[in-house]
Amino acid sequence: MAVTGPRRVTVMGATGSVGRQTLDVIAQSGGRFVVEALVGGRDVDKLARAARASGARLAVVADPQGYAALGAALAGTGIEVAAGPEAVLDAAGRPAEIVVAAIVGAAGLASTLAAIRRGATVALANKETLVCAGSLVTAACAAHGGRLIPVDSEHSAIFQVFDRSQSDQVEKLILTASGGPFRTRSLADMARATPAEAVAHPNWSMGAKISVDSATMMNKGLEMIEAFHLFPVREDQIEVVVHPQSIVHSMVAYADGSVLAQLGTPDMRTPIAVALSWPQRMPLEGPRLDLRSNLSLTFEPADLERFPSLKLARDVLRAGGALPTVLNAANEVAVAAFLASRIGFLDIARVVEQTLARSTARAPSSIAEVEAIDAEARRGAEASLPTSGRAA
Ligand SMILES: NC(=O)c1ccc[n+]([C@@H]2O[C@H](COP(=O)([O-])OP(=O)(O)OC[C@H]3O[C@@H](n4cnc5c(N)ncnc54)[C@H](OP(=O)(O)O)[C@@H]3O)[C@@H](O)[C@H]2O)c1
Repeated sequence: MAVTGPRRVTVMGATGSVGRQTLDVIAQSGGRFVVEALVGGRDVDKLARAARASGARLAVVADPQGYAALGAALAGTGIEVAAGPEAVLDAAGRPAEIVVAAIVGAAGLASTLAAIRRGATVALANKETLVCAGSLVTAACAAHGGRLIPVDSEHSAIFQVFDRSQSDQVEKLILTASGGPFRTRSLADMARATPAEAVAHPNWSMGAKISVDSATMMNKGLEMIEAFHLFPVREDQIEVVVHPQSIVHSMVAYADGSVLAQLGTPDMRTPIAVALSWPQRMPLEGPRLDLRSNLSLTFEPADLERFPSLKLARDVLRAGGALPTVLNAANEVAVAAFLASRIGFLDIARVVEQTLARSTARAPSSIAEVEAIDAEARRGAEASLPTSGRAA
């Protein structure tokens, strides 16, 4: 169906890496999209600048203490200002056709659900939402007519080549992983890795948390769980392969032997544009893939010994129940502790493993139960943090 008139977009996590790139895509869209609301966490200056530049109607800072500063920064612009967790949910509830879910972590769950429950299209970057509450989120989509369109580049690739009319002919999904900054490092080297080294991704410029997740390869583990909830496949049909160039963004293998891939430069604005403009496409400026430039595309298996987080995520995906929620919460705690130099790089997977091993939580049947499991897992992970500083 042809889209008439501009579509209204609300961006949750507007001050982050995906949020800023979303606003860049909207600015390039020639009026296809207008901004309804922008939501940030704490960074009032960035939020106010983005609200002015995009002509947003509403700017919301999740941190209630940011209210006065945001009001002062936007005085005289006519942009509405609000703050606090309730205002974040209200922003998701505003009548925008598309809500870009780009808050980092389980903190994005409630607002993503609020958008789904009013039948919005959610352009989903926030993979943690599907990891910690996948079945409940997809059930809410079915009940309220909400739609999830993936923004994660791997899932966007699969979304673009997955034939939903013949999903029984899909043999497997092949998620590509760059391998992150430590792809060729020894375990001894990784034990000494600093936060600065871990966030220095070779191909993608991203927020700190997902960058560390890429370094541990937990990111690919979270993405396996995300793929399981986004596409009609079994757990054993989801494969991971390391592809250091990040050109092939993922693939779908069919029963007749065909493997369909989506390729492109490593630029998040492409999957963002795909999600915003779907089912159409939009022109976007940016670097283009030049296949004549002696480009070599290589693929190798992932090393589960050096990247145990990937195995933990696979085990959790197989086991199901409360464990994906526990895995996600423990990982968020461990990554934050690593970024604060409280623990070593290899401790991240250890903390997650120990928290999973101690968990007795049962499968959640409501969002309140997800939140309770998440909170308990965070306490468990905090208790598992080694106290010896950065020595891993
Ligand atoms: N970056 C990428 O290329 C990429 C690719 C694929 C998927 N993703 C996924 O997209 C999500 C965002 O990643 P990112 O790299 O953009 O992260 P980021 O740069 O760290 O940005 C996170 C955003 O979330 C906001 N935020 C944090 N806590 C919040 C809270 N409690 N309430 C409301 N807002 C909050 C932050 O606000 P303040 O900064 O103002 O505090 C910021 O706007 C993650 O789930 C990530 O896995 C990212």
